[in-house]
Amino acid sequence: MTSIAVEPRWEESEIVPLQSDDLEQVLVIEGESYVRPWSRASFERELVLPFSRVLIARRSGDGVVLGYICRWRHAGVLEVLNLAVGLAFRRARIGRRLLGAVVDEACADGLTVRLEVQEDNAAAIALYQAVGFVAVGRRPHFYGRNRHAILLSLGCDVRGRWTATPAAAP
Ligand SMILES: CC(C)(COP(=O)(O)OP(=O)(O)OC[C@H]1O[C@@H](n2cnc3c(N)ncnc32)[C@H](O)[C@@H]1OP(=O)(O)O)[C@@H](O)C(=O)NCCC(=O)NCCS
Repeated sequence: MTSIAVEPRWEESEIVPLQSDDLEQVLVIEGESYVRPWSRASFERELVLPFSRVLIARRSGDGVVLGYICRWRHAGVLEVLNLAVGLAFRRARIGRRLLGAVVDEACADGLTVRLEVQEDNAAAIALYQAVGFVAVGRRPHFYGRNRHAILLSLGCDVRGRWTATPAAAP
């Protein structure tokens, strides 16, 4: 009888905190995701900052890192600083799951989620809009000359449901 090896599916993954051993894989995804990627030192700094948390999506079975999200927690806000999914794993709801982990944390603690996105980043904006974020401001030339940022925000109502929060931009 022939046995067929079954590849672990992307959906079969867990969201766990980043550890130093994961950095090589994270840096590969970072490099394929951004024109100006974060350095190893940047990620190492996030690992020790008390208000920072980096979560990864790790594929079950083989431990492959599929993507990650970095957030800072300050003054009633969870600020998303980085979110990326490996090129080979996109459009499989990994980004949404990672973002959902931060959104769930904020909702549990009555916080607002804020982030900046380059205004021509259609994929990221589509993801944020699908989750319910709304634009609350704009930062001209934030990413460099003619590379403008949109500020997006999402809050939680008293019943713990997610709601758009067109609050004043910070
Ligand atoms: C943005 C990013 C994290 C999305 O991750 P992902 O895992 O591919 O996204 P998901 O599969 O969770 O997408 C969820 C929804 O977002 C929207 N979306 C995601 N990518 C999209 C794309 N390329 N085009 C249109 N809509 C898109 C869709 O509504 C999608 O739902 P659907 O697949 O049912 O249509 C990924 O494209 C990425 O890593 N980009 C490079 C880094 C980056 O720009 N990060 C954001 C910085 S602010």
